[in-house]
Amino acid sequence: MNLNNKVILITGASTGIGKAMAKLLAKENCSLALIARRGELLDELTGQIKTENPNIKSYVCDVAKPGEVKKVFTEVREHFKKIDIAILNAGVGSKSSAEDYKYENAKNTFDVNVLGIVNCVENLLPDFIKCKDGMIVGVSSLADSRGWQGSGFYCASKAAATILLENLRAELKPFNIKVITVKPGFVETPMTANNKFPMPFLMSAEKAARIIIGGIKKEKRIIQFPLPTVLGSKLMRVVPDSLFEYISIKN
Ligand SMILES: NC(=O)c1ccc[n+]([C@@H]2O[C@H](COP(=O)([O-])OP(=O)(O)OC[C@H]3O[C@@H](n4cnc5c(N)ncnc54)[C@H](OP(=O)(O)O)[C@@H]3O)[C@@H](O)[C@H]2O)c1
Repeated sequence: MNLNNKVILITGASTGIGKAMAKLLAKENCSLALIARRGELLDELTGQIKTENPNIKSYVCDVAKPGEVKKVFTEVREHFKKIDIAILNAGVGSKSSAEDYKYENAKNTFDVNVLGIVNCVENLLPDFIKCKDGMIVGVSSLADSRGWQGSGFYCASKAAATILLENLRAELKPFNIKVITVKPGFVETPMTANNKFPMPFLMSAEKAARIIIGGIKKEKRIIQFPLPTVLGSKLMRVVPDSLFEYISIKN
């Protein structure tokens, strides 16, 4: 995939991996539509990178709200005339435990991490299908492999996101629409800043962004990293439940 003259939309661009991807993509000859709820952070970022690339615009939008997504995606198309690649990266981390097991916490996690993707895809597909072109990059997680202690809602939401994207990849192949699933291990961002448990092979958001953009250029189906965590998560899928329960990390 050559990124020249492409219009790339990134959700969750105000901090962390999304912000790091925006900074790297600003160096390419492409246009960027940056989306998040905190407009002041988007403005600050846009101010920093606009000197390198003037074709950047930010949009305040909550991906969990269908009306806002519809309005903003329409505005992006009006301004840039098209969307070529949508990087659906917005996500929330959530702690969940038996002592604090709350429907509202689960709902918020699923509203953003799962239905946020569905909201965006609904607004992308009519044009993508009409043009028989387009790319959807969905950010899931290597946490999708098992229900780790303390992160049940998050792991379940990422498992759902992975399956949604897998389904879309097959469903959209006849329309020449590419779907990429991104599964990072631990990345240093505001989401992980307060984690008290060990985070093996923690990497910087900039490194994660470089790996993701490299994978997009290669049009990989699955972009997963770092390798030791990928291998660990594959192993975790096949260990017996009794062993998993023993080694599951308590947040
Ligand atoms: N960090 C890790 O170790 C790790 C590992 C695997 C996967 N991931 C995934 O990577 C993605 C990025 O996470 P991150 O680590 O970079 O965390 P982060 O720094 O907390 O970034 C999350 C981004 O999502 C945005 N966001 C959250 N809720 C939103 C909503 N309702 N509507 C629109 N935007 C929303 C946030 O912006 P606003 O608050 O301004 O809206 C922010 O820009 C997430 O999907 C996360 O699950 C992260």
